[in-house]
Amino acid sequence: MATINDNYLKLKAGYLFPEIARRVSAFAEANPDAPIIKLGIGDVTEPLPEACRTAMVKAVEDMGDRTSFHGYGPEQGYLWLREKIAQHDFQSRGCDIDASEIFISDGSKCDCGNILDIFGSNNSIAVTDPVYPVYVDTNVMAGHTGPANENGEYGGLTYLPISAANAFTASIPHEKVDLIYLCFPNNPTGAVASKEHLQAWVNYARAHGSIILFDAAYEGFITDPTIPHSIYEIEGARECAIEFRSFSKNAGFTGTRCALTVVPKTLMGKADDGTEVALHGLWNRRQSTKFNGVSYIVQRGAEAVYSPEGQAQTKALIDFYMENARIIREQLTAAGIAVYGGVNAPYVWVKTPNDLSSWDFFDKLLHTCHVVGTPGSGFGAAGEGYFRISAFNSRDNVNEAMRRVTEKFRV
Ligand code: MLT
Repeated sequence: MATINDNYLKLKAGYLFPEIARRVSAFAEANPDAPIIKLGIGDVTEPLPEACRTAMVKAVEDMGDRTSFHGYGPEQGYLWLREKIAQHDFQSRGCDIDASEIFISDGSKCDCGNILDIFGSNNSIAVTDPVYPVYVDTNVMAGHTGPANENGEYGGLTYLPISAANAFTASIPHEKVDLIYLCFPNNPTGAVASKEHLQAWVNYARAHGSIILFDAAYEGFITDPTIPHSIYEIEGARECAIEFRSFSKNAGFTGTRCALTVVPKTLMGKADDGTEVALHGLWNRRQSTKFNGVSYIVQRGAEAVYSPEGQAQTKALIDFYMENARIIREQLTAAGIAVYGGVNAPYVWVKTPNDLSSWDFFDKLLHTCHVVGTPGSGFGAAGEGYFRISAFNSRDNVNEAMRRVTEKFRV
């Protein structure tokens, strides 16, 4: 019999979101008339921007004509899209990033996991707690951790606690770690990092030869003009950081699939024999071997985000979700519930009322209000006693969910 990757057996029960979906379906099956409102997984609800749809319809037409048909595209993505991203998302903000350093992909979640292909198995790894579970689970699958303890913490990982006490931005560790996952605006807490905070991380990484894996999937939601959108706004980041971005949340592409990863050519790692090797070349090799690129049609849709109409329409989408976030924050605050985030991110991080555990609050909310959120403990031990509410839903649903929740929970 073929053997399996035993590391999978170390994984805790299910991936968080499928586990939530399982509980919600069981409830819905038993209560078919319950009008459930889902503010759990951060999945967008509003239609794709018209500019993107128009561009994709045109791209479908291109595919129907021999002269404009596209077969395999470049594994790294079409240059016309990469150049727009480089100019608009990076160079216009003073980041020294070239189109050739941008790799188009089908998702940040995929890239956050796939990136481990180019790193050795002996790196020490730091994650925040709470944390987007993909960073942890992909390291478990790759055999970079020991088994989980009773708190669900995996041996071998360094957990950096984030809480209200440190404004949900992890303190720089004393020990040396090789890979550090940072996510700002943060999923799940909605916190952002100041330029000074990120500079401290970059300084740390450069001093220790560490690499920062910077997840900026929610940068489009930043409203505070002093907050960096990219790690490359920070001096020295080209030497120590990889950045992940996505069209999923800002342009509604969760079902359409398009994202990007930036690997600067100046970023180096060390081979077993001690020689320095450029990570850009390794990622390029990995992508060329294991990935055939994002479809031409989808990349044309993503390109349209950068047209004047696309810019106006994505801004309207973001504003719409951020108004939802404001409603959630204000309604819960008025009900006496402590909330964080939701100002520069589409997630509101809620202290569970009456000291309920995260899953108890989840069950109570589902059973009494028919509202779904995400238990904070699903993001790590330090998330216990917290709950994440996503602002991705229709206005009517957000208003109705807040009406039900604040009616039942008032502290
Ligand atoms: C979330 O709810 O945390 C996100 O939807 C997860 C993701 O983007 O993969």
